Amino acid sequence: MSTPTPPKSAPTSMTRYRPETRLVHSGTLRSQYGETSEALFLTQGFVYDTAEQCEARFKGEDPGYIYSRFSNPTTGMFEQRMIELEGAEAARATATGMAAVTTAILAPLRAGDHVVASKAMFGSCRYVVEDLLPRYGIQSTLVDGLDLDQWQRAMRPNTKSCFLESPTNPTLDVLGGARLIVDNVFATPIWQSPLGLGADVVVYSATKHIDGQGRCLGGIILSSEAFIAEHIHTFMRQTGPSMSPFNAWVLLKGLETLAIRVRAQTETAAAVAEVLAQHPKISRLIYPGRADHPQAALVKKQMRAGSTLVGFEVKGGKAAAFRCLNALKISRISNNLGDAKSLVTHPATTTHQRLTPEARAELGISEGFVRFSAGLEHRDDLIEDLQQALEKA
Ligand SMILES: Cc1ncc(COP(=O)(O)O)c(C=O)c1O
Repeated sequence: MSTPTPPKSAPTSMTRYRPETRLVHSGTLRSQYGETSEALFLTQGFVYDTAEQCEARFKGEDPGYIYSRFSNPTTGMFEQRMIELEGAEAARATATGMAAVTTAILAPLRAGDHVVASKAMFGSCRYVVEDLLPRYGIQSTLVDGLDLDQWQRAMRPNTKSCFLESPTNPTLDVLGGARLIVDNVFATPIWQSPLGLGADVVVYSATKHIDGQGRCLGGIILSSEAFIAEHIHTFMRQTGPSMSPFNAWVLLKGLETLAIRVRAQTETAAAVAEVLAQHPKISRLIYPGRADHPQAALVKKQMRAGSTLVGFEVKGGKAAAFRCLNALKISRISNNLGDAKSLVTHPATTTHQRLTPEARAELGISEGFVRFSAGLEHRDDLIEDLQQALEKA
Protein backbone atom coordinates (compact mmCIF):
# COMPACT_ATOMS: atom_id res chain seq x y z
CA MET A 1 0.00 0.00 0.00
CA SER A 2 1.33 3.44 -0.87
CA THR A 3 2.01 6.02 1.83
CA PRO A 4 -0.88 8.52 2.23
CA THR A 5 0.11 12.00 1.12
CA PRO A 6 -1.70 15.30 1.53
CA PRO A 7 -4.54 16.02 -0.90
CA LYS A 8 -3.50 16.66 -4.45
CA SER A 9 -6.57 18.31 -5.92
CA ALA A 10 -6.88 22.08 -5.77
CA PRO A 11 -10.34 23.22 -4.69
CA THR A 12 -12.45 24.29 -7.65
CA SER A 13 -14.18 27.65 -7.26
CA MET A 14 -17.94 27.22 -6.97
CA THR A 15 -18.78 30.94 -6.79
CA ARG A 16 -20.83 30.86 -9.99
CA TYR A 17 -23.30 28.53 -8.24
CA ARG A 18 -26.05 29.37 -5.77
CA PRO A 19 -25.37 29.30 -1.98
CA GLU A 20 -26.91 25.83 -1.43
CA THR A 21 -24.50 24.34 -3.99
CA ARG A 22 -21.52 26.19 -2.55
CA LEU A 23 -22.40 24.94 0.94
CA VAL A 24 -22.05 21.34 -0.24
CA HIS A 25 -19.07 21.57 -2.60
CA SER A 26 -16.94 24.70 -2.08
CA GLY A 27 -13.43 24.17 -0.81
CA THR A 28 -13.40 20.37 -1.13
CA LEU A 29 -9.90 18.95 -1.48
CA ARG A 30 -9.71 15.27 -2.47
CA SER A 31 -6.80 13.02 -1.69
CA GLN A 32 -5.54 10.34 -4.07
CA TYR A 33 -8.22 8.01 -2.61
CA GLY A 34 -11.06 10.03 -4.08
CA GLU A 35 -13.11 10.04 -0.87
CA THR A 36 -16.71 11.34 -1.10
CA SER A 37 -16.76 13.04 2.29
CA GLU A 38 -14.04 15.51 3.22
CA ALA A 39 -11.04 13.90 4.92
CA LEU A 40 -10.20 14.74 8.51
CA PHE A 41 -6.49 15.56 8.84
CA LEU A 42 -6.31 15.20 12.60
CA THR A 43 -2.66 16.09 12.92
CA GLN A 44 -0.74 18.79 14.78
CA GLY A 45 1.57 19.22 11.84
CA PHE A 46 3.43 17.71 8.89
CA VAL A 47 6.72 16.03 8.02
CA TYR A 48 9.15 16.92 5.26
CA ASP A 49 11.03 14.76 2.77
CA THR A 50 14.28 16.68 3.31
CA ALA A 51 15.74 19.41 5.52
CA GLU A 52 15.91 21.56 2.37
CA GLN A 53 12.19 21.14 1.79
CA CYS A 54 11.52 22.03 5.44
CA GLU A 55 13.65 25.18 5.10
CA ALA A 56 11.84 26.16 1.87
CA ARG A 57 8.45 25.62 3.55
CA PHE A 58 9.41 27.95 6.42
CA LYS A 59 10.71 30.54 3.95
CA GLY A 60 7.38 30.40 2.12
CA GLU A 61 9.07 29.13 -1.05
CA ASP A 62 7.38 25.70 -0.92
CA PRO A 63 3.59 25.90 -0.71
CA GLY A 64 2.85 22.90 1.61
CA TYR A 65 1.53 22.81 5.17
CA ILE A 66 3.71 23.38 8.26
CA TYR A 67 1.77 23.28 11.51
CA SER A 68 -1.96 23.14 12.31
CA ARG A 69 -1.83 26.25 14.49
CA PHE A 70 -1.88 28.22 11.25
CA SER A 71 -2.67 25.83 8.36
CA ASN A 72 -4.33 22.45 8.01
CA PRO A 73 -6.09 20.92 4.99
CA THR A 74 -9.37 20.24 6.84
CA THR A 75 -9.43 23.69 8.44
CA GLY A 76 -8.53 25.12 5.02
CA MET A 77 -11.56 23.38 3.46
CA PHE A 78 -13.83 24.93 6.08
CA GLU A 79 -12.29 28.37 5.51
CA GLN A 80 -12.64 28.10 1.73
CA ARG A 81 -16.28 26.98 1.95
CA MET A 82 -17.05 29.98 4.17
CA ILE A 83 -15.09 32.33 1.85
CA GLU A 84 -17.19 31.24 -1.13
CA LEU A 85 -20.46 31.41 0.80
CA GLU A 86 -19.76 34.87 2.19
CA GLY A 87 -18.12 36.36 -0.91
CA ALA A 88 -14.94 37.17 1.04
CA GLU A 89 -11.37 37.05 -0.28
CA ALA A 90 -9.81 35.31 2.72
CA ALA A 91 -10.62 33.85 6.13
CA ARG A 92 -9.13 32.35 9.27
CA ALA A 93 -11.00 29.86 11.43
CA THR A 94 -10.72 30.25 15.20
CA ALA A 95 -11.30 28.04 18.25
CA THR A 96 -14.50 29.86 19.28
CA GLY A 97 -16.69 32.75 18.20
CA MET A 98 -15.14 34.88 20.95
CA ALA A 99 -11.65 34.08 19.60
CA ALA A 100 -12.87 35.40 16.22
CA VAL A 101 -14.36 38.57 17.74
CA THR A 102 -11.35 39.27 19.99
CA THR A 103 -8.82 38.61 17.21
CA ALA A 104 -10.70 40.68 14.62
CA ILE A 105 -10.97 43.62 17.03
CA LEU A 106 -7.61 43.41 18.82
CA ALA A 107 -5.13 42.24 16.17
CA PRO A 108 -5.12 45.40 13.99
CA LEU A 109 -5.05 47.86 16.92
CA ARG A 110 -2.39 49.39 19.09
CA ALA A 111 -2.32 51.62 22.18
CA GLY A 112 -3.74 55.06 21.37
CA ASP A 113 -6.36 53.74 18.92
CA HIS A 114 -10.08 54.14 19.46
CA VAL A 115 -13.04 51.85 18.75
CA VAL A 116 -16.75 52.66 18.44
CA ALA A 117 -19.27 49.87 19.00
CA SER A 118 -22.99 49.44 19.21
CA LYS A 119 -24.25 48.89 22.78
CA ALA A 120 -26.55 46.05 21.80
CA MET A 121 -24.11 43.19 21.65
CA PHE A 122 -23.43 39.81 23.21
CA GLY A 123 -22.11 40.18 26.80
CA SER A 124 -18.61 38.80 26.12
CA CYS A 125 -18.18 41.06 23.06
CA ARG A 126 -19.13 44.01 25.23
CA TYR A 127 -16.55 42.89 27.81
CA VAL A 128 -13.84 42.90 25.12
CA VAL A 129 -14.76 46.39 23.89
CA GLU A 130 -15.65 48.01 27.20
CA ASP A 131 -13.28 46.38 29.71
CA LEU A 132 -10.43 44.62 27.92
CA LEU A 133 -9.37 47.14 25.25
CA PRO A 134 -8.94 50.09 27.69
CA ARG A 135 -6.54 47.94 29.77
CA TYR A 136 -4.17 48.02 26.78
CA GLY A 137 -4.56 51.73 26.06
CA ILE A 138 -7.28 51.37 23.41
CA GLN A 139 -10.25 53.59 24.18
CA SER A 140 -13.80 52.64 23.24
CA THR A 141 -17.14 54.43 22.93
CA LEU A 142 -20.49 52.64 22.98
CA VAL A 143 -23.38 54.08 20.97
CA ASP A 144 -27.00 53.31 20.20
CA GLY A 145 -26.36 51.34 17.02
CA LEU A 146 -29.51 52.64 15.32
CA ASP A 147 -28.67 56.32 15.84
CA LEU A 148 -26.49 57.57 12.98
CA ASP A 149 -25.77 60.84 14.80
CA GLN A 150 -24.32 58.95 17.73
CA TRP A 151 -21.98 57.00 15.44
CA GLN A 152 -20.92 60.21 13.76
CA ARG A 153 -20.35 62.07 17.04
CA ALA A 154 -18.33 59.19 18.48
CA MET A 155 -15.85 59.10 15.59
CA ARG A 156 -12.37 60.52 16.35
CA PRO A 157 -9.29 60.94 14.16
CA ASN A 158 -7.80 57.85 15.88
CA THR A 159 -10.95 55.68 15.45
CA LYS A 160 -9.68 52.57 13.68
CA SER A 161 -12.58 50.11 14.00
CA CYS A 162 -16.34 50.05 14.46
CA PHE A 163 -18.05 46.93 15.72
CA LEU A 164 -21.71 45.94 15.63
CA GLU A 165 -23.84 42.87 15.68
CA SER A 166 -26.02 43.51 12.67
CA PRO A 167 -25.49 45.98 9.85
CA THR A 168 -27.30 49.19 10.48
CA ASN A 169 -28.31 51.23 7.50
CA PRO A 170 -25.35 51.70 5.25
CA THR A 171 -24.13 53.97 7.98
CA LEU A 172 -20.93 53.03 6.56
CA ASP A 173 -20.14 56.39 5.06
CA VAL A 174 -20.35 58.04 8.48
CA LEU A 175 -17.55 55.83 9.70
CA GLY A 176 -14.97 58.05 8.03
CA GLY A 177 -12.34 55.52 7.01
CA ALA A 178 -12.59 53.29 10.10
CA ARG A 179 -13.07 49.60 9.33
CA LEU A 180 -16.47 48.09 10.06
CA ILE A 181 -16.50 44.68 11.76
CA VAL A 182 -19.87 42.90 11.85
CA ASP A 183 -20.82 39.96 14.05
CA ASN A 184 -23.36 38.24 11.78
CA VAL A 185 -24.25 35.35 14.11
CA PHE A 186 -27.93 36.15 14.55
CA ALA A 187 -28.67 36.83 10.88
CA THR A 188 -26.62 33.84 9.61
CA PRO A 189 -24.82 33.91 6.23
CA ILE A 190 -28.03 32.56 4.69
CA TRP A 191 -30.11 35.68 5.39
CA GLN A 192 -27.56 38.50 5.46
CA SER A 193 -24.27 39.26 3.69
CA PRO A 194 -22.54 42.17 5.49
CA LEU A 195 -19.58 42.35 3.07
CA GLY A 196 -22.03 42.98 0.23
CA LEU A 197 -23.59 45.78 2.32
CA GLY A 198 -20.24 47.53 2.78
CA ALA A 199 -18.73 45.92 5.91
CA ASP A 200 -14.98 45.23 5.88
CA VAL A 201 -14.84 42.23 8.20
CA VAL A 202 -17.44 39.61 9.18
CA VAL A 203 -17.13 37.34 12.19
CA TYR A 204 -19.15 34.29 13.20
CA SER A 205 -19.52 32.07 16.17
CA ALA A 206 -19.66 28.82 14.15
CA THR A 207 -20.85 27.22 17.40
CA LYS A 208 -24.34 28.47 16.51
CA HIS A 209 -26.13 27.77 13.20
CA ILE A 210 -23.01 26.63 11.29
CA ASP A 211 -22.60 23.59 13.50
CA GLY A 212 -26.28 23.70 14.38
CA GLN A 213 -26.18 20.42 16.24
CA GLY A 214 -24.54 21.45 19.52
CA ARG A 215 -21.37 19.45 18.94
CA CYS A 216 -18.47 21.87 19.02
CA LEU A 217 -17.23 25.44 19.38
CA GLY A 218 -15.73 27.41 16.52
CA GLY A 219 -15.43 30.80 14.91
CA ILE A 220 -14.28 32.47 11.71
CA ILE A 221 -13.05 35.87 10.51
CA LEU A 222 -13.76 36.75 6.86
CA SER A 223 -12.41 39.77 5.03
CA SER A 224 -10.10 40.96 2.24
CA GLU A 225 -6.84 39.22 1.43
CA ALA A 226 -5.01 42.35 2.65
CA PHE A 227 -6.75 42.51 6.05
CA ILE A 228 -6.23 38.81 6.76
CA ALA A 229 -2.60 38.86 5.61
CA GLU A 230 -1.69 42.11 7.34
CA HIS A 231 -3.54 41.76 10.64
CA ILE A 232 -4.93 38.29 11.27
CA HIS A 233 -2.52 35.71 9.86
CA THR A 234 0.53 36.67 11.92
CA PHE A 235 -1.51 37.31 15.09
CA MET A 236 -3.06 33.85 14.88
CA ARG A 237 0.18 32.14 13.90
CA GLN A 238 2.04 33.68 16.83
CA THR A 239 -0.68 33.66 19.52
CA GLY A 240 -2.64 30.53 18.58
CA PRO A 241 -6.45 31.00 18.95
CA SER A 242 -6.83 28.49 16.11
CA MET A 243 -9.56 25.99 15.26
CA SER A 244 -8.99 22.29 15.82
CA PRO A 245 -9.04 20.28 12.54
CA PHE A 246 -11.61 18.01 14.18
CA ASN A 247 -13.96 20.94 14.77
CA ALA A 248 -13.31 22.19 11.22
CA TRP A 249 -14.44 18.79 9.92
CA VAL A 250 -17.61 18.84 12.06
CA LEU A 251 -18.36 22.37 10.87
CA LEU A 252 -17.75 21.47 7.20
CA LYS A 253 -20.45 18.81 7.54
CA GLY A 254 -22.64 21.37 9.34
CA LEU A 255 -22.34 23.74 6.37
CA GLU A 256 -23.77 21.11 4.01
CA THR A 257 -27.15 21.35 5.73
CA LEU A 258 -27.00 25.00 6.84
CA ALA A 259 -29.39 26.42 4.24
CA ILE A 260 -32.14 23.86 4.75
CA ARG A 261 -31.85 24.04 8.53
CA VAL A 262 -31.92 27.84 8.68
CA ARG A 263 -34.86 27.99 6.27
CA ALA A 264 -36.90 25.45 8.31
CA GLN A 265 -35.97 27.10 11.62
CA THR A 266 -36.96 30.52 10.27
CA GLU A 267 -40.36 29.24 9.15
CA THR A 268 -40.90 27.73 12.60
CA ALA A 269 -39.79 30.92 14.36
CA ALA A 270 -42.22 32.95 12.24
CA ALA A 271 -45.08 30.58 13.14
CA VAL A 272 -44.17 30.76 16.85
CA ALA A 273 -44.03 34.58 16.65
CA GLU A 274 -47.46 34.65 15.05
CA VAL A 275 -48.98 32.65 17.93
CA LEU A 276 -47.12 34.53 20.69
CA ALA A 277 -48.14 37.90 19.23
CA GLN A 278 -51.75 37.11 20.15
CA HIS A 279 -51.00 35.52 23.53
CA PRO A 280 -52.50 37.25 26.62
CA LYS A 281 -49.45 36.39 28.82
CA ILE A 282 -47.02 38.17 26.45
CA SER A 283 -46.44 41.92 26.78
CA ARG A 284 -43.90 42.36 23.95
CA LEU A 285 -42.85 40.35 20.93
CA ILE A 286 -39.76 40.92 18.78
CA TYR A 287 -39.44 39.06 15.50
CA PRO A 288 -37.44 40.57 12.64
CA GLY A 289 -39.69 39.04 9.98
CA ARG A 290 -42.85 40.84 11.19
CA ALA A 291 -44.25 44.18 10.08
CA ASP A 292 -44.49 45.27 13.76
CA HIS A 293 -40.71 44.89 14.30
CA PRO A 294 -39.27 48.31 15.30
CA GLN A 295 -36.81 48.23 12.37
CA ALA A 296 -39.01 46.35 9.90
CA ALA A 297 -38.03 48.54 6.92
CA LEU A 298 -34.34 48.11 7.63
CA VAL A 299 -34.73 44.35 8.06
CA LYS A 300 -36.46 44.18 4.68
CA LYS A 301 -33.68 46.14 3.05
CA GLN A 302 -30.78 44.22 4.53
CA MET A 303 -31.96 40.69 5.20
CA ARG A 304 -33.31 38.06 2.83
CA ALA A 305 -35.72 36.71 5.49
CA GLY A 306 -36.59 36.96 9.20
CA SER A 307 -34.73 35.04 11.85
CA THR A 308 -34.52 31.69 13.61
CA LEU A 309 -34.94 33.57 16.92
CA VAL A 310 -37.96 35.12 18.60
CA GLY A 311 -37.83 37.45 21.62
CA PHE A 312 -40.80 37.77 23.94
CA GLU A 313 -41.57 39.33 27.30
CA VAL A 314 -43.65 37.31 29.73
CA LYS A 315 -46.00 39.40 31.87
CA GLY A 316 -44.97 39.13 35.53
CA GLY A 317 -41.18 39.59 35.24
CA LYS A 318 -38.48 37.10 36.18
CA ALA A 319 -40.67 34.83 38.32
CA ALA A 320 -43.21 34.39 35.50
CA ALA A 321 -40.48 33.92 32.87
CA PHE A 322 -38.83 31.26 35.05
CA ARG A 323 -42.16 29.45 35.60
CA CYS A 324 -42.63 29.40 31.81
CA LEU A 325 -39.08 28.11 31.14
CA ASN A 326 -39.36 25.45 33.86
CA ALA A 327 -42.68 24.19 32.46
CA LEU A 328 -41.38 23.60 28.92
CA LYS A 329 -41.19 19.94 27.92
CA ILE A 330 -39.56 20.11 24.45
CA SER A 331 -37.61 23.37 24.25
CA ARG A 332 -34.62 23.19 26.58
CA ILE A 333 -33.17 25.92 28.78
CA SER A 334 -29.77 26.86 27.38
CA ASN A 335 -27.62 29.84 26.45
CA ASN A 336 -26.87 28.53 22.94
CA LEU A 337 -28.87 29.24 19.79
CA GLY A 338 -29.21 28.03 16.20
CA ASP A 339 -29.38 24.38 17.28
CA ALA A 340 -31.50 21.51 15.88
CA LYS A 341 -33.02 21.40 19.37
CA SER A 342 -35.24 24.36 20.28
CA LEU A 343 -33.61 26.33 23.09
CA VAL A 344 -34.84 29.05 25.42
CA THR A 345 -32.67 31.62 27.17
CA HIS A 346 -33.33 34.15 29.92
CA PRO A 347 -30.81 36.84 28.83
CA ALA A 348 -31.07 38.97 32.01
CA THR A 349 -29.65 36.14 34.16
CA THR A 350 -27.29 34.59 31.57
CA THR A 351 -25.82 36.22 28.44
CA HIS A 352 -26.42 39.78 29.70
CA GLN A 353 -26.14 39.12 33.44
CA ARG A 354 -22.91 41.16 33.68
CA LEU A 355 -24.68 44.38 32.65
CA THR A 356 -26.27 46.71 35.20
CA PRO A 357 -30.09 46.66 35.35
CA GLU A 358 -30.03 50.15 33.73
CA ALA A 359 -27.84 48.97 30.84
CA ARG A 360 -30.13 45.96 30.32
CA ALA A 361 -33.21 48.19 30.40
CA GLU A 362 -31.61 50.43 27.78
CA LEU A 363 -31.28 47.39 25.50
CA GLY A 364 -34.86 46.26 26.14
CA ILE A 365 -33.74 43.21 28.11
CA SER A 366 -36.33 43.18 30.89
CA GLU A 367 -36.62 40.61 33.68
CA GLY A 368 -39.47 38.89 31.82
CA PHE A 369 -37.65 38.74 28.47
CA VAL A 370 -37.06 35.30 26.92
CA ARG A 371 -35.18 34.37 23.72
CA PHE A 372 -36.53 31.41 21.82
CA SER A 373 -34.26 29.69 19.26
CA ALA A 374 -36.29 27.56 16.88
CA GLY A 375 -35.03 24.03 16.29
CA LEU A 376 -36.03 21.39 13.79
CA GLU A 377 -38.88 19.78 15.74
CA HIS A 378 -42.43 19.82 14.35
CA ARG A 379 -43.62 23.39 14.77
CA ASP A 380 -47.04 22.41 16.14
CA ASP A 381 -45.39 20.46 18.97
CA LEU A 382 -43.26 23.51 19.82
CA ILE A 383 -46.23 25.86 19.74
CA GLU A 384 -48.35 23.55 21.93
CA ASP A 385 -45.41 23.23 24.35
CA LEU A 386 -44.98 27.02 24.59
CA GLN A 387 -48.71 27.48 25.07
CA GLN A 388 -48.94 25.00 27.96
CA ALA A 389 -45.82 26.56 29.57
CA LEU A 390 -47.25 30.07 29.29
CA GLU A 391 -50.40 28.92 31.06
CA LYS A 392 -48.17 28.18 34.08
CA ALA A 393 -46.31 31.52 33.86
C1 LIG B 1 -23.63 37.34 18.85
C2 LIG B 1 -22.59 36.43 19.41
N1 LIG B 1 -21.30 36.68 19.14
C3 LIG B 1 -20.32 35.90 19.62
C4 LIG B 1 -20.59 34.80 20.41
C5 LIG B 1 -19.46 33.98 20.95
O1 LIG B 1 -19.35 32.74 20.35
P1 LIG B 1 -18.69 31.44 21.04
O2 LIG B 1 -19.61 31.01 22.12
O3 LIG B 1 -18.54 30.46 19.93
O4 LIG B 1 -17.37 31.88 21.60
C6 LIG B 1 -21.94 34.50 20.71
C7 LIG B 1 -22.35 33.35 21.56
O5 LIG B 1 -21.80 32.81 22.41
C8 LIG B 1 -22.96 35.33 20.19
O6 LIG B 1 -24.25 35.09 20.46
